[in-house]
Amino acid sequence: MCGVVAVIGKQNASDLVVEGLKKLEYRGYDSAGIASVSGGALHTIKSEGKLINLIEELSKVSKANLQSDSSIAIGHTRWATHGNVNVKNAHPLTSESKVAVVHNGIIENYESIKNQLISDGYVFKSQTDTEVLPHLFMKYIKLGNNFLQAGRLVLKDIKGAFAFVAMSLDFPNELFVSRNSSPLAIGLGEKSNFVGSDAHSIDHLTQRIIYLEDGDHALIDLDNVRIFNINEENVDRKIINIKAEIGLITKGGYRHFMEKEIFEQPSVIPQIISTFIKNSYEINIDLNKLGFKNKNTLLISAAGTSYYAAMVGKYWIEQLADLPVIIDLASEYRYRKPSVFGQSAMLVISQSGESLDTLMALRHGKELGLNTNAIVNVEGSTIDREANYSLYTRAGAEIGVASTKSFTSQLVILFMIAVALGKKFNIVTQEQLQKICSYILSLPSAIAEMLNMENEIKSVAQNIKNAKSIIFLGRGLLYPLALEGALKLKEISYIHAEGFAAGEMKHGPIALIEDQVPVIMFLVSDGNEDKAISNLQEAYSRGAKIILIADRDCIKKAPFAHYKIEIPNFETDFKSLLSPFLMAIPAQLLAYHVANERGTDVDQPRNLAKSVTVE
Ligand code: F6R
Repeated sequence: MCGVVAVIGKQNASDLVVEGLKKLEYRGYDSAGIASVSGGALHTIKSEGKLINLIEELSKVSKANLQSDSSIAIGHTRWATHGNVNVKNAHPLTSESKVAVVHNGIIENYESIKNQLISDGYVFKSQTDTEVLPHLFMKYIKLGNNFLQAGRLVLKDIKGAFAFVAMSLDFPNELFVSRNSSPLAIGLGEKSNFVGSDAHSIDHLTQRIIYLEDGDHALIDLDNVRIFNINEENVDRKIINIKAEIGLITKGGYRHFMEKEIFEQPSVIPQIISTFIKNSYEINIDLNKLGFKNKNTLLISAAGTSYYAAMVGKYWIEQLADLPVIIDLASEYRYRKPSVFGQSAMLVISQSGESLDTLMALRHGKELGLNTNAIVNVEGSTIDREANYSLYTRAGAEIGVASTKSFTSQLVILFMIAVALGKKFNIVTQEQLQKICSYILSLPSAIAEMLNMENEIKSVAQNIKNAKSIIFLGRGLLYPLALEGALKLKEISYIHAEGFAAGEMKHGPIALIEDQVPVIMFLVSDGNEDKAISNLQEAYSRGAKIILIADRDCIKKAPFAHYKIEIPNFETDFKSLLSPFLMAIPAQLLAYHVANERGTDVDQPRNLAKSVTVE
């Protein structure tokens, strides 16, 4: 999703902005641009595609002309919403070569503003919604307003979710910034200040960060950051010290961030476990803070992979704690009038903590009177700040667009919640709790063993890489894994893939089966495996290429499968309960290797963004 970076008060500001934009690359973008002031003129350089193209363009422009004496610059990576991917639509957007704006989000009422501005004589050069912003600034500056007054008038005109930074030749030592629902961080320096879409994009410049709150705007110069709330009252916002995460943007010898992040799971998971398991048999989650009143229904809402984690969580909580759980896609929940009958608590799940759909669902739940909790990876993100209680996955920065280690980390917390609730409601005994804890403690080594299956999975990937469509099947706890496997595969390999509950095949999807269509089933012995194998047999009889990823007993029962990947044998009473952790690994590795075979951009797949800050 779009990324915004700005620097004021440092020489070679443009170079520093580019450094920041590089750190936002992982979010996904299709064009980039930068504007700076030097020699009394506003210079704008933009390019389509990757940042390397912008850097080339920048190097073509004489340093004397653009960068060396510039100490103010704003930059942007654009993920197209309004208007095609081209240089004209890339940001910064300008007005009369005097005002430049970079913007993340959507100005919902841009059409009526645009029509008015056109009749006032302003010429639009792009198809974007953003272009109304520089023209509105220009209009209000021409009317004699200072930069702060002009910015406030602009804010009165616009509606939508946004975070933007504006600069003007008339006020060459000031930046005007504002946010509403889209994230924005301000960094404090010595005789310099910075702005970024997240703290990481400016952590090469400072570690002192302020997050603006919704409706805030600020006027920034090299000495001061003056912040105002929606009522234009001067406000203080907390300064947070962040630790620069050294080495964050290196692939550590792996070919892709996604691969590195898949292989990080055995080391990431022990860290989460150690936060939540005390003395090897106690779960350290404050259930009172989660806001349960008796055995009320829990609502869980999320998007994409985080939603599939929620689905697994539902199955676990219902099974282990006998507590009803409703799961809702965040993008649907916020636009409904949902009933909260019997509910007191809501849990949202988000790696980035910035998905707008999930944030809006959380706000909706809050308005409806629910106690809001969050499982987030990014501490200090908007969802983290707005939830009453947050549980952190602390999986480290996830740079690959496809969610991998954050999925399994979310599962760990959901599992802990389920077990803790089970104990609270006397469904899980102390003896079981101890057994479960000891298995959880051995989960990292089980995941490491699963990763050893890479070569077998790679050979399956080579065999299915040219398929037009791939079907994933699972039952029970492995149904959400079938959905996740299909999502992972389609988003990075661009092969059409669908996940189904195995038992649903006969109700429609079986019509999709034709000769050689790959059908991948995740299966462990759970007492219902024979039914799942019958579902698989039905696909086999119609010519499907069958790939079974399963434990030894299940594999023995399906000799007809074309490819059999046997998962390591884990001796535990809870094998089927914990199977989502294990099957996440082949689901991720299969998608990764199919994408690699096809040569796609694994870390930044087309059209996708790491944190989806538009609706
Ligand atoms: C899939 C993927 C997305 C995200 C979804 C929610 O691999 O990464 O489906 O899971 O956009 O993102 P978060 O968890 O950041 O709210």
